Amino acid sequence: MKKLLDKIDYNNLPNHVAIIMDGNGRWAEKRGKLRTFGHERGIYSVKDTINGCKELGIPYMTLFVFSSENWSRPKKEIDSLMHLFHTNLKIHLEEIHEKNLKIITIGEIGRLSNLIQKELFFFMKKTKNNTSGTLILALSYSAREEILRATKNIAKKVYQGLLSLEDIDNSFFNNHLYTKDLPYVDLIIRTSGEQRLSNFLLWQSAYAELYFTNILWPDFRKKDFFEAIINYQNRKRRFGNVK
Ligand code: IPE
Ligand code: IPE
Ligand code: MG
Repeated sequence: MKKLLDKIDYNNLPNHVAIIMDGNGRWAEKRGKLRTFGHERGIYSVKDTINGCKELGIPYMTLFVFSSENWSRPKKEIDSLMHLFHTNLKIHLEEIHEKNLKIITIGEIGRLSNLIQKELFFFMKKTKNNTSGTLILALSYSAREEILRATKNIAKKVYQGLLSLEDIDNSFFNNHLYTKDLPYVDLIIRTSGEQRLSNFLLWQSAYAELYFTNILWPDFRKKDFFEAIINYQNRKRRFGNVK
């Protein structure tokens, strides 16, 4: 681990890392277990990755916990996932608070149960003044929905005559997204070997570096996170320029 840490350039850390935590079901199926077992084990990976992020001092990390499309999964899997969120929220969010991290959520939080919503709001309030970093949980999240929602809000203001078309630029549009107070994404990590974004942070990741690993999420550990960061630091980011 020390060797890996030695390779990290603390002056070139990503400001915002977003992770598509994929492969829980396959991890469990490989062991002849129910998919739920994989989701349960994935919690260890979440904890370890959050610790890694905090150790490096990366200010923003977004975790893709549940997509809007995931609602179409069998009811049994959704029920067990929601049960898992609920039973783990209290313990883990308390730990996150002790680490002085701020918690926020993005997505259609209103689709979650009242109990889960209440718990989330409680922790968002409790952690709102924490200063060691921000952990963003994408729950019932769809980037297209987010973009449509912003578009409708803006169109409404134009229609009501409160706004002219010239006012709508990148930053104005960005201010209508769930992520309005967050920086754009620098690095997206996806586990499990799939190489797609699955409707995650499409606007925010326009210039993100993409890192794919075959590791299934329940096997992903801090050292794998550090490797992704080192890989990111070896990229040349040009943003369309020639430098
Ligand atoms: C990611 O693992 C967790 C969620 C989407 C909630 P999956 O459940 O997608 O696992 P695989 O991709 O089927 O292995
Ligand atoms: C993306 O994984 C969503 C989360 C990790 C929460 P999926 O497993 O839902 O994505 P697809 O279906 O393989 O694209
Ligand atoms: Mg998957």
